[in-house]
Amino acid sequence: MTDLAARVAEVLPSVRADLADLVRIESVWADPARHAEVHRSAAAVAELLTGAGFPDVEIVAAGGAPAVIARHPAPPGAPTVLLYAHHDVQPEGDPAQWNSPPFTPTEADGRLYGRGAADDKAGIAIHLGAMRAFGGAPPVGLTVFVEGEEESGSPTLGALLHAHREALAADVIVIADSANWTTEIPALTVSLRGLVDCEVEVATLDKGLHSGLWGGVVPDALAVLVRLLASLHDDDGNVAVAGLHVPPQSQQSLDLTPEQVRADARLLAGVREIGSGTACQRMWFKPAVTVIGIDTTAVAAASNTLLPRARAKISMRVAPGGDPAAHLAALRAHLQAHAPWGAQVSVTDGELGQPYAIDATGPIYDAVRAAMQTAWGVPPVDMGMGGSIPFIAEFAAAFPAATIVVTGPEDPASAAHSVNESLDLGVLARATTAEALFLAALAPGD
Ligand code: BES
Ligand code: MN
Ligand code: MN
Repeated sequence: MTDLAARVAEVLPSVRADLADLVRIESVWADPARHAEVHRSAAAVAELLTGAGFPDVEIVAAGGAPAVIARHPAPPGAPTVLLYAHHDVQPEGDPAQWNSPPFTPTEADGRLYGRGAADDKAGIAIHLGAMRAFGGAPPVGLTVFVEGEEESGSPTLGALLHAHREALAADVIVIADSANWTTEIPALTVSLRGLVDCEVEVATLDKGLHSGLWGGVVPDALAVLVRLLASLHDDDGNVAVAGLHVPPQSQQSLDLTPEQVRADARLLAGVREIGSGTACQRMWFKPAVTVIGIDTTAVAAASNTLLPRARAKISMRVAPGGDPAAHLAALRAHLQAHAPWGAQVSVTDGELGQPYAIDATGPIYDAVRAAMQTAWGVPPVDMGMGGSIPFIAEFAAAFPAATIVVTGPEDPASAAHSVNESLDLGVLARATTAEALFLAALAPGD
């Protein structure tokens, strides 16, 4: 074991305890009732970073959620590295479906359970652990940037980057918000899908009508909406929207067997996969469409009425290389063209998130791979990512000369955004060691 790895092992218990305390804070920015919790988590993160030895720590905001910027100046001749994570978390969903309370950190089977334990409070823990392993005196300049509204699409990130450009400028940007291939095999994330969404409302009547009197004669809006949403996929489950970007599907060296897909996704008995191509091609390099919500009469309130209007929210993943604005336009055109029976359709555009693909070659990526290999005992794989981190493109545009490295604490069992989210504590140790070794390798004269 290198000295630095031994130092990480020494500080890890404190890092785990601090991560557990962060998990207790219900930092759900998407829930306005919990904005005070997001402020509390920003304050907690700022305090931890100050305690770890950052001389310059500030909580900043640009009309949105509070973010934390902590800086340690670069020793002469050393580069500056920006370490990113986010302290906001997804809503917890139905607490009854959790095996332990969502905001009570709970350790079991070598994992830490709780909302945000992996996505992405573990990212904060990794940066904190690296700084502590250096005893507060890192061999490179370090800027830790912990955002508070990533799960809401980072609406004010552009403004923050603009307002704090000098403070955030770096030679290398490490984004610790992605996943590893398994708990034993580390990964460098080299591509991510983009994301667009919209709301569609269909209307057929100006008010509800008795379903006995008018049923079978005039259409209700929910029947229209169901057919319209069904038109988004073909019978095999491929996306049926015309004009989407589908890059040439190269053969992946990595893939998941149908058994792994079934186990990792917890697919229920009898339910089949959708779409064509290998699992990794479909996850990483093809578009996907998901209906993420419907507004209509709840079953408990249902009566024998033809519903006059109904609404759905649709989310689409954009393959690397695709243009989100063009995808949103294609989705809008599809929705406007496919409603049956002349129903009125209105589409409201939502968010746009850029996909990203990295050319992960050159000395800096070599150094990351070497650090991962030392920390994990096996070389990392290059992996795509079906999820999205839209602000990566914003960072890349703001700091075009910076090298962007995407890593993270998740593994296939982490269940980010779902119930029983968890972090593998072995991964926390290895990822923290890898980050510390990587930073040490960037020091001049190393
Ligand atoms: N950390 C995730 C992205 C991710 C998910 C990386 C799984 C690796 C594995 C991030 O917090 C996230 O959830 N992003 C959102 C995007 C957004 C604009 C809300 C997503 O992918 O839905
Ligand atoms: Mn995340
Ligand atoms: Mn997330």
